[in-house]
Amino acid sequence: MQLTARQRAMAAGDEGEAIAAAMRVLVQYGEIMAAERLIEISSAAGANLYGPRHSRPLGSDDPVRLFSEYSLNSPGRLDVPPARVPSCQLIGPVDRIRAGEVQNMTPAAVAKVEESQTYLEGLGVSLLSTCTPYQVGFLPEYGQHVAWMESSAVVFINSVIGARTNTEGRESAAAAMLTGLTPEAGLHLDEHRRADVRVRVEAPIPDTFGWNALGYWLGYAVEDRVPLLEGIATRPDLVQLKQFGAAAASSGDVELFHIPGVTAECASPEQVLRADAEELVFGAAELDAAIARLNATRTGDEVDFVMIGCPHASYDQLREVAALLDGRRVSPDVALWIFTPGALRERARDEGLLAAIEASGALVLSDTCPAIGQFVPPGTRRFATDSAKQAHYLPAIMGVEGAFAPTADCVAAALSGRLP
Ligand code: F3S
Repeated sequence: MQLTARQRAMAAGDEGEAIAAAMRVLVQYGEIMAAERLIEISSAAGANLYGPRHSRPLGSDDPVRLFSEYSLNSPGRLDVPPARVPSCQLIGPVDRIRAGEVQNMTPAAVAKVEESQTYLEGLGVSLLSTCTPYQVGFLPEYGQHVAWMESSAVVFINSVIGARTNTEGRESAAAAMLTGLTPEAGLHLDEHRRADVRVRVEAPIPDTFGWNALGYWLGYAVEDRVPLLEGIATRPDLVQLKQFGAAAASSGDVELFHIPGVTAECASPEQVLRADAEELVFGAAELDAAIARLNATRTGDEVDFVMIGCPHASYDQLREVAALLDGRRVSPDVALWIFTPGALRERARDEGLLAAIEASGALVLSDTCPAIGQFVPPGTRRFATDSAKQAHYLPAIMGVEGAFAPTADCVAAALSGRLP
């Protein structure tokens, strides 16, 4: 990889050992990706200190050492400078307000999480604690190169906004945050943003449930290729695009999709389609198969847990849940948890929406989710969710049965204990 004179000086330690460590990460990463150079980025997302499988085995409560060793691959305690580009962390394993109530965490354990967050804040990192920073004001512009982690956010900003990022890990996101650089490879290059697969959608996709199922089928069908979808009669809204991308990035490695007239880089199919693109059809049989696969572990209709908000719910989704609850009480045998960014929970509190939802017995939670935090209500045997991504992950992670159902059916199940 060719480095500029300034980049060589950074790698040599002219700007401190932490920057040199970050450059080592980026050069190794760039060489693996066959990048020829590093390019400047406009933002970084993912400088987390705690993650689902990272919080326990690290064996250290010292955030400086955690960041040095696990984000910059350097044993010891580096003097880490502030972020060079606008940066945020993402979702973590703990709801910092309700960890005691729903995760059975002690105040001392929560305080350790707070300590790591305070350290990140000192580096200039926005503590958004969500997988959907783009819903709460942290989002790139069309064409900007960025370095983001979290597959559902990556596919959203690549496709819907037209920003450019690969799916980063905590090390490459941290190194990018400190240097403002990332390897020019993968989806930063025009040639990798063209569609390899043309999908003709013949099944009707009238609602968010259908978009989840379509995305889930798509991930298996195209794996890590770039799909173009045609034939969709109803224009998807932002929630549907969020759910669709998250599903496709769960069953497959979809980081970018194109829909003519909807996504950012695709005014027409000709603009993005490769001449040798494979042709696939999504019909009624594929739709049914995707829904069946998402219900593969389910052996009945009774549920004891309902999860909504994967990816984290938008404000409109909170409103929808409140309307579906319509002032009624959740069954005493069921826990209804709705996950949303902390900033939206605050707004919901201010506007009375939080009280309207929680008067039912439901809880609105933030900062985490069951799959990332690895927790469900005690005694859960079968849960229902309106998210293909959560239905995909949670049975495997927590050993519970999963039911994938429309939002209205999930809320009905929370009220009665039984899916319609
Ligand atoms: Fe977000 Fe957790 Fe779903 S990270 S996308 S709510 S699995």
